Amino acid sequence: MSERIERPGAGAWVPERPNLARLREAVQECRGCELYRDATQGVMGDGSADAELVLLGEQPGDREDQQGEPFVGPAGRVLDDALADAGIEQSRVFRTNVVKHFRWSTIRGKRRIHQSPHHGHVDACRPWLEAELRLLRPTGVVLLGGTAGNALLGPSFKVTEQRGRRLSWPGAFPLDHAPRWVAATTHPAAVLRAHDQRRAAYDALVDDLRLAESWL
Ligand code: URA
Ligand code: SF4
Repeated sequence: MSERIERPGAGAWVPERPNLARLREAVQECRGCELYRDATQGVMGDGSADAELVLLGEQPGDREDQQGEPFVGPAGRVLDDALADAGIEQSRVFRTNVVKHFRWSTIRGKRRIHQSPHHGHVDACRPWLEAELRLLRPTGVVLLGGTAGNALLGPSFKVTEQRGRRLSWPGAFPLDHAPRWVAATTHPAAVLRAHDQRRAAYDALVDDLRLAESWL
C-alpha cells in the first residue's frame, strides 16, 4: 500500500514582499510537499540579482543539498566550463532549479543517489520559481534537461527535438514581466553520463549557450 501524500504546494510559505535573501530563509520552512523531510536544507537559486539569463535545472544534488547552493557539484563544474566557453560571464546569470529540495532514493557508498522529482513535486514547488522570476525579470531562460523542459513546456517536451530553439514564453506559466524567450538544452549531468560521446555532448551544450547569448 502506498502512503497517500498531501501536497499543499509552496504558496503559503512564499513571503508577500520577497527579495532573494528572504526567499532563501523562507524556503527552509516550506512544507509544500514531502521532499523537505529527507533533505538537509532547501536550495534556492544563486547568482546575479541583475541577471539577464536564468539557467534552470532540476533539483539540488547531493553536494548542493549539503552546501545549500545550486550547481556546486560535478554538474555545476560542467555548467561553469560551458558558460565560460560560450563567452557568458557569471555576472550575467542566475542558476536555479524547478524543485528546491533534494529527492534521493538510496545511499551508495557515501553518496545519496538522486531520484528525479515527479510532476507533483514540480507543481508543488512552482511558487518559489515564480517568485525568483518575478524578482529577476530575466531576458531569457535556458531549461537544462527534461525536468525543467517538462515543467515549463509541458509533458510532450523532448530535449532532442526542442533544444537550441528560441521559443516564446509559455502561456501556461503567466508572469507580469515574462522573459522574452525560453530555450532548452541538455542537462550538464547528462554530459557527464555521455561517456564516449562526452566531448560531443559538451560541445552541443556550449553551442546552445552561445545561441542563448546571442538572443540576450
Ligand atoms: N543538477 C541540477 O539540476 N541542479 C543542481 O543544482 C545541481 C545538479
Ligand atoms: Fe517546498 Fe519545494 Fe521543498 Fe517541496 S520541494 S518542501 S514544495 S521547497
